[in-house]
Order: sequence, then C-alpha cells, then structure tokens
Amino acid sequence: MKLAVVGGGSTYTPELIDGFARLRDTLPVTELVLVDPAADRLDLVGGLARRIFAKQGHEGRIVTTSDLDAGVDGADAVLLQLRVGGQAARERDETWPLECGCVGQETTGAGGLAKALRTVPVVLDIAERVRRTNPDAWIIDFTNPVGIVTRALLQAGHKAVGLCNVAIGFQRKFAALLGVAPADVHLDHVGLNHLTWETGVRIGGPEGENVLPRLLAEHGDAVADDLRLPRAVVDRLGVVPSYYLRYFYAHDAVVEELRTKPSRAAEVAAMEKQLLEMYGDPALDEKPELLSKRGGAFYSEAAVDLAASLLGGGGSPYQVVNTYNRGTLPFLPDDAVIEVQAAVGPQGAVPLPVAPVDPLYAGLIANVTAYEDLALEAALRGGRDRVFKALLAHPLVGQFGYADGLTDRLIAHNREHLAWA
Ligand code: G6P
Ligand code: MN
Repeated sequence: MKLAVVGGGSTYTPELIDGFARLRDTLPVTELVLVDPAADRLDLVGGLARRIFAKQGHEGRIVTTSDLDAGVDGADAVLLQLRVGGQAARERDETWPLECGCVGQETTGAGGLAKALRTVPVVLDIAERVRRTNPDAWIIDFTNPVGIVTRALLQAGHKAVGLCNVAIGFQRKFAALLGVAPADVHLDHVGLNHLTWETGVRIGGPEGENVLPRLLAEHGDAVADDLRLPRAVVDRLGVVPSYYLRYFYAHDAVVEELRTKPSRAAEVAAMEKQLLEMYGDPALDEKPELLSKRGGAFYSEAAVDLAASLLGGGGSPYQVVNTYNRGTLPFLPDDAVIEVQAAVGPQGAVPLPVAPVDPLYAGLIANVTAYEDLALEAALRGGRDRVFKALLAHPLVGQFGYADGLTDRLIAHNREHLAWA
C-alpha cells in the first residue's frame, strides 16, 4: 500500500509516522511519500521519519520529494495537510480581525475565511493532479478549514473525506475519565467542522447506553476545563461543545484575551523552530514530547483508522468525518458538508442517522453553513463583493461596518495569495 502526504515537510509529520509505525497491522503501508515544496524541512522530517520506522521495525520505504506528480503517482490514498502561506499567513489571520473587534483565529471567523480563500484553489489544483495520475485514489483532507475545503473537493467530484482530531480527542479523553477503552466510546457528534457538540457519549456503539449525564456529573470540571468554559455553562447545556465554540459563546472575552497575548501562530512558529532543530539530531528516533504541545493530538490515529477503512482494511466501522449532508440534518442543504459519525468503507463515508438537533445548536449550524456556502463561492470565484457577503453572513460578524472593515483587511493582507485581488 502506497500513501502520499502532501505537506509532508510539516513539523506534525512525526506524529503521523509514529501512528503508521504503531498501527501497521491496521494499515500496512509499504511506501510512504512525503511531498513538500520546502526541501530543507523535508530532509529533516524525512530523516526523522526513517529513524522512527527503523526503530519500530517498520519495513515500509519512506520517500521524500518536491515533485507532486511523481510523489502521488500510484498512491492508494493521498493525505493533504498543507498550510498555504505558512505560520506567517496564520499570524496575520489571527491579528487583523482583532482590529475590528472580531476574533482572530485560523479557522473561525474572518481569519478562517482568509485561510479558505488562500487554500481552496491550491487544494483543488493538487486534487486535480492526483486524479490525473490516480483516478481511484482517496483524498483525506486535514487541511483547514476542513469543512469548506472538503466541500470544494466533493463539488469538484473528487473521492474525498475530511478529517479533524477534535472528535477522537474527546473519545480518548472521555474513555480515560470513564475508565474504558477508547474503542468502546461512541460519540453522538453533530455539527460542522470546528462547530460541533457531543450530544451523547455511548458505551459499546451507536445503540449503547448514553453515559453523558454521568460523565458530566462525575467529571464535569475536567471536561469544562479543557474547553475553557465555565462548568456551569456546560452543565446548563447538558452537552459538550467543542473548544471552538468558545469563540462564539465567549466571543468578546476571547477578543480581549487575544489582544493581550502573543498569537498562537507566534507560539507555534517558536515551537517549530525548536522541533526542526531536534529533528536534525541523528540520535532522535521517536516523536519528541514537545510535539504534544501542538493541537494535533491523535490525528495520526484518526488518519490510520480512516485510511484503513477507505482502503478496505480493518478500521473502526464508525468514524467521525466530514462529508455531504444528504438529508442527515434535514435543516441543511444536501450538499452542505457536515461533521458526524459515518459508516466508512471502500465506498466512502455514509453518515449515520442523527437525532433531531436542538434549535440551540441547529440555528448556529445553519447560519455557519450559509457562511461556508458563501465562503466557498468567494474562494472559487473571487471578488470583493463575495468576500463581503460571506463575512456579513458570518454570525460573528453580521454588521456591514465590520464586514467592510474586515474585507479590506483580508484582501490587503492576502493579495499575494489571491489571483483576483
Ligand atoms: C486542532 C484542530 C486542527 C488545528 C490544530 C491547530 O488539532 O483540530 O484543525 O490545525 O488544532 O493546532 P496548532 O498547534 O497548530 O495550534
Ligand atoms: Mn481540526
């Protein structure tokens, strides 16, 4: 089995390699190609990747290349984990929205729109090249904003599934709190990428007992602490919002906080510098502890599970993925991309039925879906007016004064990445 990772020079890659090595019975990779335009990073990351495989006795071959077409040739699945413009562009996404009193974040709000506009054309170009060489290959998209990027891929007819580690993170956390195996925890997970709620936590599978009330009663503080939301809020909701909901439920407080501290991009850039130095050490042959300070915990396990199922092997029968709605949430268009539990196999992902969604969540999901629809229009067709409308539709923007100010800043800060600007 051959896998290609586009953005393989990412400092995150050792996390993925570690997962491939540990879980090789689930996903028997014989060749792994790391594709990245940054040859220097590729050397450092590729070197460590080979040492991790060797230490763990994995016989798969690791190839590094900056040639996308050659790298994806013959791949059964292609993982996309790229960041157009790097941490420098992310830093801007996290900063200029604050000037308008709006949250500065790389996937939520105006910053997320900027990221979508930079990323969608690049990802579509890559996917087209994958399809030309490999029409049957699966594309697994980790590239943010995952909901919008996955929708772009599906609309263009690609065999794609979007993936995020938020759900697997909750699964692992809840399993530890409950003292059960992660595989025994089934989440009733509903919403859009980075806009989700765990409305049930079941033991054993989709029909298992819902232990969420007990989880909150016994471990509510631990759950709320991770979300950085007051426990009383979580208790009142009776469901577990993802930590991205803090940008909505505590928007103004978050803006104040972000104004006074260094951006996440700056923190990550400093970590990346250190990580790359470590990766260059020929004695290092495992993923360093420092990597656990990044947000991507467990993403390798989610990726192995998904790739194994899509490629016909033994992944979990149900996985939380991003795919077309197709009636699952009746209040959304069929071609909206949602993040829910799905049955995953070689035919792709088919969402499991979802219980009626409380209006408290359905309203926000519908609102952000409308924004994502307009955001994708803006990413595909460009133009100031489309950017403005996407921002006006966003529940965290909503007023034309803000939308105008943000549009001007978004374009000014991203001109080099926007063909139409
Ligand atoms: C989580 C999210 C990812 C996001 C990451 C950021 O893992 O699910 O979508 O890319 O956090 O982590 P970072 O360490 O770059 O802030
Ligand atoms: Mn994510």
